[in-house]
Amino acid sequence: MENEKAIQIGLIGLGTVGSGVATILKAKEKSLEALVGRRLVLKKIAELNPERARALGIPEEILTARAEDILEDPEIQIVIELIGGKEPAKTFIRQALLAGKHVVTANKALLAEAGNELFLTAREQDRHIGFEASVCGGIPIILALRQGLVANEIESIFGIMNGTSNFILSRMTEEGQPYQQALEEAQKLGYAEADPTLDVEGHDTAHKLAILMHLAYGLPMDLSVIHTEGITRITPLDLAFAREFGYRVKLLAICRKENGLVEARVHPTMIPVSHMLSNVSGAYNALFIHGDAVGDILLYGLGAGMMPTGSAVVSDLVDIGRNINLGITRRIPRSSVSPEERGAPLAVKPFEEIETHYYCRISALDRPGVLSKVSGILGEHGISIASVIQKGRDQEGAVPIVMMTHGAQEKALQEAIGRIDQLPFITDRTMVIRVEDPSLI
Ligand code: HSE
Repeated sequence: MENEKAIQIGLIGLGTVGSGVATILKAKEKSLEALVGRRLVLKKIAELNPERARALGIPEEILTARAEDILEDPEIQIVIELIGGKEPAKTFIRQALLAGKHVVTANKALLAEAGNELFLTAREQDRHIGFEASVCGGIPIILALRQGLVANEIESIFGIMNGTSNFILSRMTEEGQPYQQALEEAQKLGYAEADPTLDVEGHDTAHKLAILMHLAYGLPMDLSVIHTEGITRITPLDLAFAREFGYRVKLLAICRKENGLVEARVHPTMIPVSHMLSNVSGAYNALFIHGDAVGDILLYGLGAGMMPTGSAVVSDLVDIGRNINLGITRRIPRSSVSPEERGAPLAVKPFEEIETHYYCRISALDRPGVLSKVSGILGEHGISIASVIQKGRDQEGAVPIVMMTHGAQEKALQEAIGRIDQLPFITDRTMVIRVEDPSLI
């Protein structure tokens, strides 16, 4: 009798996060049953490498090498997709929904690319897609946006959403390490992948921002509207200059609503040292949100790893389990309402129209007239200089000239730097880092 009431779950992919999920489901069996009103039973796990299952003490009989054994099992009501990547993950999720199963996924890359289509299928099938684990692992940001903050217009979100990049930048800031050395340390400690591109080039952060913008503003998930830059060109010299000006550099996701337009960008950003986000170090993530009613909110925690991300997956299982128990569907706002019901979405501001402050490190030969030529070009583009630092020459006679600007438009800044970098006494490409005005964050 009790077994009839149990909710049967299938897990596709027993990697790091899957292991966390299996561990939590086993360790918290009783308390989760009390929360859901029914037992959550991990009926089948599809995994090609059974070693990890053995190490976790998972019985052989629930293991299969075929995802179809889960997707075609009529008793399984919730499918957890934790294999990552686009395919076959997308096909599995679609098949699960079409078979009338609910889905839980941590797959931000897939949602950012195909989320609109998958949520539409879920809506047509009257099923849920739980995706708390897709953004910032253990931090309950999806729940906050879809429930806790619904009374608010979300005016801005500033997020440190990639632990790998934050770890690397923290090491570079605190130890003066060059990028490559900090990356190698991150790889040794298991934070960074062998191919770190997705993390360090900002793509992983952009995937997460696309999901947050969908929840906060009803925008379709669309990576093409998010300007994305990574941390690979940042040097310890830039971090030392940042410190002199009273800033730290973070890989920041920014979305901000103003006059009906939303800014959407991911890039290294100087944040005042006095701001809470600048103290988020190592592999930690944090989100600083401003809602019109609630004011400022800071969410902080681990954005990756077996148990933090497992915690997020299990929160979705409990949520969906409760709905199943009570016979409720369509409790997830926005993703569950049709485009017509949602109203006209806001538009995204073209990146070249954003206005911010800029740090420009210009590499030039130390000759008479250099500074006046550079500042003249900035002036011609309407860019006002707030302060300048010039340090000693290196052996070739090149010097870093660092300028902080007042508020300027991206387009004007890029045009000016494009001209400056063509000047004969310039020895390297100018390094530009955007600076968030303390009053805006
Ligand atoms: N690789 C990500 C990070 C976690 O370093 O934060 C998963 O998105």
